[in-house]
Amino acid sequence: MPAGVPGQSRGPDDLLARARRLDAEDPLAGYRDRFVISDPDTVYLDGNSLGRLPKATRDRLRQVIDVEWGEDLIRGWSRWIELGRRAGDVIAGLIGAEPGEVTLSDSTSVNLYKLAAAALRARPGRRTVLTDDDNFPTDQYLLQGLAEAGDLDLRVLPSDPDRGVSPDAVRAALGEDVALVCLSHVAYRSGAIADLAGITEAAHQAGALVLWDLSHSAGSVPVGLGAAGVDLATGCTYKHLNGGPGAPAFLYVRRDLQPRLRQPIWGWFGQTDQFDMAGRYRPADGIERFLVGTPPVLGGYAALEGARLSAEAGIEAIAAKARALTGYLIELADAWLVPLGFQLASPRAAAERGAHVTLHHPQAWQVCQALIQERVIPDFRTPDRLRLGVAPLYTTFGELYVAAARLREIVASGRHEGFPTQRSRVT
Ligand SMILES: Cc1ncc(COP(=O)(O)O)c(C=O)c1O
Repeated sequence: MPAGVPGQSRGPDDLLARARRLDAEDPLAGYRDRFVISDPDTVYLDGNSLGRLPKATRDRLRQVIDVEWGEDLIRGWSRWIELGRRAGDVIAGLIGAEPGEVTLSDSTSVNLYKLAAAALRARPGRRTVLTDDDNFPTDQYLLQGLAEAGDLDLRVLPSDPDRGVSPDAVRAALGEDVALVCLSHVAYRSGAIADLAGITEAAHQAGALVLWDLSHSAGSVPVGLGAAGVDLATGCTYKHLNGGPGAPAFLYVRRDLQPRLRQPIWGWFGQTDQFDMAGRYRPADGIERFLVGTPPVLGGYAALEGARLSAEAGIEAIAAKARALTGYLIELADAWLVPLGFQLASPRAAAERGAHVTLHHPQAWQVCQALIQERVIPDFRTPDRLRLGVAPLYTTFGELYVAAARLREIVASGRHEGFPTQRSRVT
């Protein structure tokens, strides 16, 4: 049911009945039980920051700790050495890449640095990097650092924080001097989906390479990297892939580009035959040349198990439910929250948004704290946004109904006004 259909009854009974029907018809409903849910009365709307713990991950980590670390000790490395690529192959299936094009590696920030530097080196003579001002801060900082170190021109396009980056603005900024276009596929603030295929094509026509941040896309929407001919990508595994806090990120390099690119951090995990202990760096042939040092094995297993669960459910089914969940949430917001001063800060068209809905409210930080106290967990994003993430593998329509009802009650009664206006360190 699309959001905001004119003439649709929006009374509480109707909305509740719809939530019940949608939950009853949900083909992914069985996945909720595959996650640890310690308090069923807490509505968790922050899976786009940190996904819930899959039971398979908990069991796998126990086994890895007890047996692979506890008993196998150093012998475990014969298995662990392949872990990044194994998980990478599963993630590849979720983002439209081929086996051997993706591996777990470092953090998204470090991967952005490595991939952007590799791309710049592959485009000598071009001195401009394009990004947009609503790109995630770590992406912007890394590009600023690279630009400063390499005396490059970082061109930052203005973006509408509620609607995302405009392909026309990117096209207009492309030229012979542009080496790299670096953008987020799903915008972290609004959830707006960028035109990945169109922007990639335009960048290629101008002779530039593209690097996409897939942190909010992997495990929530299909990405189609291969079909679009994307050069480079990276993203988190701790959000929609449910890999757990600090789990390693993934990186993607199109296969034909792999032998042509050199990344700047030359560590022994990127070396051909690393246990030859040769004194001279010779990058490995495949995706491993983008690795650096010893990977986090526990986080790697958690990323693998999380990605497996998404792969089992299927990215198309996940994305379809994300659209339905966010559409229903927008309907609730229109009916109950807009009259209380909220405003939609995400695209209204289902095909244009990922798996979160953002609402403006002038007291969003106070509202966020009040909600958390009343067991609805969203997050706050500057300057005035409440971000409500849906996780199709475990979020129910009924939970969204409850969350919106609690939110309405809080704001209608003014309970949020008793909370500090000063932001805490982590939001
Ligand atoms: C779009 C985007 N990129 C990057 C990051 C963070 O990267 P890292 O894992 O290196 O901290 C986030 C974190 O929320 C993000 O939303």
